[in-house]
Formats: sequence, structure tokens, C-alpha cells
Amino acid sequence: MQKKLIVGNWKMNKTPAEAAIFVRALQKNVGAANEVDLVLCPPFTALAAVYNITSGSNIILGAQNVYWEDSGAYTGEVSAAMLKEAGCKYVIIGHSERRKYFGETNETVNKKLRSALNVELIPILCIGEGLTERENGEAFRVVEDHLREGLNEISKEEMQGVVIAYEPVWAIGTGKVATTNEAKEIHLLIYELLDKIYGKNISSSTRVIYGGSVTPENISSLLDESEISGVLVGGASLKADSFSQIIVRSVK
Ligand code: 13P
Repeated sequence: MQKKLIVGNWKMNKTPAEAAIFVRALQKNVGAANEVDLVLCPPFTALAAVYNITSGSNIILGAQNVYWEDSGAYTGEVSAAMLKEAGCKYVIIGHSERRKYFGETNETVNKKLRSALNVELIPILCIGEGLTERENGEAFRVVEDHLREGLNEISKEEMQGVVIAYEPVWAIGTGKVATTNEAKEIHLLIYELLDKIYGKNISSSTRVIYGGSVTPENISSLLDESEISGVLVGGASLKADSFSQIIVRSVK
């Protein structure tokens, strides 16, 4: 069975010095932790500090965003090749906070996915409905739109290197985790859509992870579901204690 993928998304938290303290504590707590694939996504400014400590270890580096152009006059942006050279293997793309605060659309998300795949960075494509959409019975439609448009012109071969993160917006930072049944229902939909888009069997090799108020208390029941290949953790990934517990409970 594939290892569970545990990703910590620190969002706009931790300076390089704070990141270094965190990573040392995490390493002390979870040691080898080889039974999961463990990814940390610090802010750009802490990538080097985390890389210096984790390089060659079981902790893998990821970024939270990328720009789709290779280089040029795009003040404030960072390219996929830059992330790759900084030691990143993963990059989060299309997080709902970027869609909400920075105007990202399925189209720009798709361009970012393309640029990541061009340099063999593994994109973690975030999709998921808001509260009103769920209440209006539109969750399936939103997830399908995010998935189809985000994956526009991404080939079946390239799909082997893509992770999908289902993050219902109403569960992010709210303490209101999706029930395992709610998460499972959407994960099954995503697998079904992937098979429809790419042909049978693609779903068996694609990781679909869940994000939204994941804690040490709810991790076990989420990961008991075989359809949930891992988790994308925000708040609970900021403290070495809680994140360590999530990791330890992921392998039980
Ligand atoms: P929380 O775990 O804080 O709800 O955040 C989830 C998230 O947005 C991870 O990308």
C-alpha cells in the first residue's frame, strides 16, 4: 500500500529562525518517520533554512505557490525552476486562500500546474467548495470545475506526478472538519472524474489528500478511509507537538 502523504502548510507563519527551531523539534519527536511521506511547506523566505536542516532526511520540502513564467519582469513572483533549485519537490497550487485573496482562477491555477510539471515539481492541486456552494447543493459541480479546468491539457503521464488536495473552504481554519463520510464522498467523486478524464486506472495511482481542520484528534478516523491518501494540515502543522502527533497517529 502507498504511504500516507502528510503535508504541513505553514501559510504566512514562521521566520527562518523559527522554522529552524520547529524542524529540529520535529526531527527529535518523530525521528525517522519513514512510514509516511512527510512534506513541509514554509514561506519562501524560510525555504533555505528548512532545506539546510532537512536535506538528505525523510522531510521533504515544498512551496506554497509558484508563478507560471520562467523569468522576467514579474516583481514579487517566484518561478518553478527557482523553487526546484531551492530544494523543493512539491508545490501547493490553487489554495482557496490564493483564490480568495489573490484572484487566482482555474485558468491561472492550470498555468501554474503546467509550469511546475515542466520542471518536475509535484503540484498539490487544491480544490473544494465554499459553504454557500455546499448548502446550495453545488459541491460536486464546484469540485468538478476545479478539477477539469485545473487539469486542462495535463496529460495522463503527467498526472502520475500530480497530487489532488480536497479542501472544503468551510473546513479551513474553522475547527469544523468534514466528517469522514463527507470527505470520502468527494474523494470518490474525484477518483471517478479522474478515471472519466484519463481512462480507467489513473485513480489507483493518484493521491487525493484531505485538508481542513485536521488535528491529532481526528487524523486517525480520516486516514482509516483508504480513499484518503493523506492530509494537508494548516494550523496544527505550526506546533511541533501537534504535528508530531499527527505524524505518529498516521502510521497506526
Ligand atoms: P487548517 O488545518 O488550519 O484548517 O488549514 C487547512 C489548510 O488550508 C491547509 O492547506
